Amino acid sequence: MMKKNVFSAIQPTGNLTIGHYIGILNNWLKLQNKFNCFYCIADLHSLTNISEKKNLRNNIFDILSIILAIGINPQKCIIFLQSSITEHIKLYWLLNCYTYVGELYRMTQFKDKINNSKNVNCGLLNYPVLMSADILLYKTSYVPIGYDQIQHIELTRKIAKRLNNLFSYNIFNIPNYILSNNCSKIMSLLNVDKKMSKSDINKNNVIFLLDNVNNIKLKIKNSITDSQFPPKIFFDIKNKPGISNLLNIISGIKNIPINILEKNFYNYSYNKFKNIVIKELNNFLISLQKRYFFFRKKEFFLRKILLNGKFKAKKYAKKNILNIFNFFNINYL
Ligand code: TRP
Repeated sequence: MMKKNVFSAIQPTGNLTIGHYIGILNNWLKLQNKFNCFYCIADLHSLTNISEKKNLRNNIFDILSIILAIGINPQKCIIFLQSSITEHIKLYWLLNCYTYVGELYRMTQFKDKINNSKNVNCGLLNYPVLMSADILLYKTSYVPIGYDQIQHIELTRKIAKRLNNLFSYNIFNIPNYILSNNCSKIMSLLNVDKKMSKSDINKNNVIFLLDNVNNIKLKIKNSITDSQFPPKIFFDIKNKPGISNLLNIISGIKNIPINILEKNFYNYSYNKFKNIVIKELNNFLISLQKRYFFFRKKEFFLRKILLNGKFKAKKYAKKNILNIFNFFNINYL
């Protein structure tokens, strides 16, 4: 049987966090063995954020090195740069003409962004349409994402169904999203009501994939717990959000179910438990960083991976866009 297609993308913007690994990249890793995976570096999306433009070239190599360091294998999946496949932009325009402005205004990410930015460009509004084009161009069945992207996948499904209905033909595959295993959303270390975010002003809230050992120790030592007495380690998002967050972190990097961690650590003091978290994070991040720096130095090699990915992705994209355009009577020459 033909393997189904998986598509996902990540923006080449600055420092990734442990949340990106646990929420998204860990799934990329798992899916590469079962599916035909397209993993894309979304440089076009990152243009919506003016401050990212200066460092884009470096950021692309940074993110690609992280992807490789995590263990994503370019022999098994197609890793490519979004802007290298111009068919994304062609399909984007077409989908724009079948998406309502009201649908885009309703996106919560758009509303958040315009509240927090002076640069309200049209790219921010149309951002989910480009995402839809990314996904629909490759007849995608599954899209591994973080929670914040669910609404965008729902919109993608809506647009795809709208066009399929219009032509009474399944031009597009209807994609499903995949969230991380134990549905863990990694929260800020000092403010457990808020998602851990690379753009947090307070860096003590965030564990970066490239953080050094001393920083990690300090950040975990200072992270919020609770005042249960005697202290107990178990998962309870409502009453013990800090401890639950730390459990999610260990579970995510070690791929161990939460209930097993609870059994192991139930009677540990918070201090002793935090030392375990620090040890596990250090083990994980030190070896990841070693591989990261190994790849990051080889820009020629990194370029070759992207060129190879472009070559492979282009074949799919070219064929699919011709089929799609046929339905709209465009590009018939
Ligand atoms: N918007 C996504 C993010 O910031 C990145 C992205 C772009 C994406 N195109 C996509 C994710 C298509 C999934 C599918 O996380």
